Amino acid sequence: MENKIIIRSMDSQDIFSVLEVEKRSFTIPWSEEMFRIELQNPNCLYFVAEISNVIVGYVGLWIIVDEGHISSIAVDPSYRRLKIGRALMQNIFDIAQKKQLKGLTLEVRASNIGAIELYKSFGFKTEGRRKAYYSDNQEDALIMWHHL
Ligand SMILES: CC(C)(COP(=O)(O)OP(=O)(O)OC[C@H]1O[C@@H](n2cnc3c(N)ncnc32)[C@H](O)[C@@H]1OP(=O)(O)O)[C@@H](O)C(=O)NCCC(=O)NCCS
Repeated sequence: MENKIIIRSMDSQDIFSVLEVEKRSFTIPWSEEMFRIELQNPNCLYFVAEISNVIVGYVGLWIIVDEGHISSIAVDPSYRRLKIGRALMQNIFDIAQKKQLKGLTLEVRASNIGAIELYKSFGFKTEGRRKAYYSDNQEDALIMWHHL
């Protein structure tokens, strides 16, 4: 199998494939409409990861003045632990450097050990907690930051 991971900008034609990854990755998946709105916003940057022309993951970044908020990241369950999440995150750091952002932040479920480990490996630290942030199970969100 050709294993090369390609990271490129997401466009509206990718939404159908991204939704498949989304549904397989989250208990409350974003809708098609939500992705369409995000893609129309110039302050929202979305990227897909492809292997052999198949979309296997995506990441989103909101640029808010000089900070970046990672809005979402997901890798299809069949392609996890192949460093695709790492490649998507590296792409975000490359953009942050180009745009001279002062920091990157994100929210993550307190129980999401895999994602938290990924973020920690990129130097993110927990700086806050939103109590019962997730409506499906009242789980807390950790607020993580990487100051650049
Ligand atoms: C989090 C997620 C994007 C990681 O994607 P991935 O492609 O599997 O991650 P990678 O293979 O690049 O992993 C990089 C590192 O992250 C950490 N990591 C990733 N998944 C992990 C897990 N399940 N348990 C522990 N550590 C994990 C490890 O340090 C890993 O390095 P290693 O494989 O050398 O040990 C993926 O698990 C996912 O889509 N989860 C569901 C959606 C989600 O929770 N998104 C985050 C919302 S805040």
